[in-house]
Amino acid sequence: MDLTRRAFALSSAALAASPAMAFDARKPIVIAHRGASGERPEHTRAAYLLAIEQGADFIEPDLVLTKDGHLVVRHENEISGTTDVAAHPEFAARKTAKVIDGERIEGWFTEDFTLDELKTLRARERLPQLRPVSAKFDGCDAIPTFQEVIDLAKQQSACCGRPIGIYPEMKHPAYFASIHLPIERRLAEALTRNNLGGVHDLVFVQSFEPESLRNFQAMSQAKLVQLVGADRPEMVSADGLKRIASYAHGVGPDWSLVIPTQGGALGPPTSLVADARAAGLQVHPWTVRAENRFLPTSLRKGADPAAHGDVGAVFKALYAAGVQGVFSDFPRLAVKARG
Ligand code: G3P
Ligand code: CA
Repeated sequence: MDLTRRAFALSSAALAASPAMAFDARKPIVIAHRGASGERPEHTRAAYLLAIEQGADFIEPDLVLTKDGHLVVRHENEISGTTDVAAHPEFAARKTAKVIDGERIEGWFTEDFTLDELKTLRARERLPQLRPVSAKFDGCDAIPTFQEVIDLAKQQSACCGRPIGIYPEMKHPAYFASIHLPIERRLAEALTRNNLGGVHDLVFVQSFEPESLRNFQAMSQAKLVQLVGADRPEMVSADGLKRIASYAHGVGPDWSLVIPTQGGALGPPTSLVADARAAGLQVHPWTVRAENRFLPTSLRKGADPAAHGDVGAVFKALYAAGVQGVFSDFPRLAVKARG
């Protein structure tokens, strides 16, 4: 076996190792939310590479589907906010309006493009006013496929000498099922093809839709995480968490459900972590962002919404509350606060 193939085989084995072997169990994992998306356009090779360089344990690809059934990495299937599709005259006629998850949305949709067509587009920063440094990288990267993200994690595991896990999220699963593009089956097949479908592999599969996770459970043994928005607190009551534990390994709540804000300051933790532990669930809150705009007023520094506030206080409060992982657009800062 030549050196390249040998390194790749070793890295595949590392990615498929037990989390207990891979990580210091006393430390929460840092999940790079859409890569290091505070500093590079989200869901790009550059964002994932920077996240790994900064010490992230897992990289997060959100997944949608193309017309020809390929899993590609975007936060939503409408791509005008994060690509240059609007500047491509050859695709002007593809602009349309659809109802996705009950909301009317106008734009260009991944399921109306083949993978070859999508690969002609380039990624852009979603929040250029807030993240002008990241916006300087507009146009540098193509939309990655899920397979390319898996390959990147394997290659980087070999290069860094530490395993990099993947944390894919199925986006709009009910919608994709309705147009005969079932995302659960495509994801389960991709994980199996890459020898990553076991319960001990460094993979967490996430969704906001419980039915989608239950469907996926019939196809793969990969660990599951139920996402919960701040508008669904009943899902993380003690009884709600017991229900989640019947099919998932963990819960991914909005971080305000763990550390609520009171009068513009961080309040004491809720019982979510203790209740989850009692139910046998890990807790991986999302999404910690450094800019003033996303922080409680007492943690902001200055009046510029783009300036960084005291985000370290949020990480430290979450770690002190006993979470087992945290999603952040700034993995460097999550690693630093972890110590
Ligand atoms: O997956 C955790 C978090 O990413 C959920 O929110 O909208 O950023 O995918 P979203
Ligand atoms: Ca996500």
